[in-house]
Amino acid sequence: AKITYIEHDGTRHEVEAENGLTVMEAAIRNMVPGIDADCGGACACATCHVYVDEAWLEKTGERASMEESMLDFASDVQDNSRLSCQIKVSDALDGLVVRLPEQQG
Ligand code: FES
Repeated sequence: AKITYIEHDGTRHEVEAENGLTVMEAAIRNMVPGIDADCGGACACATCHVYVDEAWLEKTGERASMEESMLDFASDVQDNSRLSCQIKVSDALDGLVVRLPEQQG
């Protein structure tokens, strides 16, 4: 699936992500800056914070409760904030757009 990551300064990164990876892993593999992912995807660090584009909120689904509590550690959390290690890439998410926060943690 194609995923577009937009950095805080507006720089866009379009990557072709394999299904089954997480949105966090696809960013790391494609050297997209701005996602630290200190915990490696265990939903235990909140440094993979992204903002899901409004048009994609429904398809990316709801935050899990563990994710919800980890997000308390992220800065500038908004209604469309998610932890990118908790979003799995699939055909349904082809075209997904996420924005990166100014800083992680
Ligand atoms: Fe640590 Fe997502 S990588 S919470």
